[in-house]
Amino acid sequence: MLDVRWPTVKRRAHQVSRAMEWDGMANAAGQTVVITGAAGRIGAMLRTRLPAADRVLRVVDLVPCEGGQVVDVTDLDALRAVVRGAHAIVHLAGHGLEMPWRDILETNVQGNWCVLEAARLEGVPRVVLASSNQIAGMRPTPSPGDEPLPADCPPRPGTYYGWSKAAMESLGSLFHDRFGLDVICLRIGSCFSAPPGGRGLSTWLSPDDAGRLVDAALRAPSPGFVRAWGVSANTRGTWSMTEGRELGYQPTDDAESWASALPPAEPPAPGFSAAAGQAVLGGPLALAPVGEPQTLRDGYDD
Ligand SMILES: NC(=O)c1ccc[n+]([C@@H]2O[C@H](COP(=O)([O-])OP(=O)(O)OC[C@H]3O[C@@H](n4cnc5c(N)ncnc54)[C@H](O)[C@@H]3O)[C@@H](O)[C@H]2O)c1
Repeated sequence: MLDVRWPTVKRRAHQVSRAMEWDGMANAAGQTVVITGAAGRIGAMLRTRLPAADRVLRVVDLVPCEGGQVVDVTDLDALRAVVRGAHAIVHLAGHGLEMPWRDILETNVQGNWCVLEAARLEGVPRVVLASSNQIAGMRPTPSPGDEPLPADCPPRPGTYYGWSKAAMESLGSLFHDRFGLDVICLRIGSCFSAPPGGRGLSTWLSPDDAGRLVDAALRAPSPGFVRAWGVSANTRGTWSMTEGRELGYQPTDDAESWASALPPAEPPAPGFSAAAGQAVLGGPLALAPVGEPQTLRDGYDD
């Protein structure tokens, strides 16, 4: 079979060695990793969990954060300067909830293109993308006895936000196939310091497991284009762990230890019953009014 990536992969090998030379000046042994959206919830978790003897972090956000640079991910030139010489980008920046269409397009879609394009132009060989379970938010909630839901199940979003993650993943696929980048899409469940409500007993990604998952995505040898669920080893989990484990992810936390302390359900979406939210994979967040700014309410502890 014709491998359409061959010329690009050859070019990439050259670019990688150029990046390693550059980086050798700052970090002889290891890799430089850029984190976008580093001031946010998951960014803060990763800033304290990803540092390693063989890794240097460059952290950026639209708002200041400790040790970071203020960079708008929709500014391609600024982003190119930041990722120059890096070995990987962990892209977290963006709207993490429903927003009006234009905001979603500008920040989540354009920002994602800028990250991938900056990686291509600067020879950064690997991009880890923060996708979401909301990509499949309108699927029926899997039952505990079902086969685990594969991490490449087709998109079925309930919001523009969820759709933007489908756009993110498919653009990542293009940049892998056409330009040879390694692109790892992490379909994150509920990443908070504690599981939010009863649904979180199956969807929780603990802060420590978030660190383990992203670390695995950064270290996996030649992963190619991968989708994996971002969840802990939850007793009530219903999503496949296979893809994550193939990356080298070994989750150790289980939301079950929170079970007695949690409310039975997340707060319902406006106009919907709690049962309606429980019936869809994305929970009440998937049933948010389309195109209206959404905020997290009680139950999301961070
Ligand atoms: N927390 C979760 O449970 C969860 C679940 C699924 C997916 N995700 C995804 O993970 C990522 C991080 O989530 P989070 O909970 O930390 O969100 P967050 O809202 O706490 O953080 C997002 C960060 O992105 C920054 N940002 C927004 N626009 C930017 C721009 N134009 N340029 C640079 N920075 C910009 C914000 O300032 C913020 O610090 C998001 O992409 C989100 O969609 C999170």
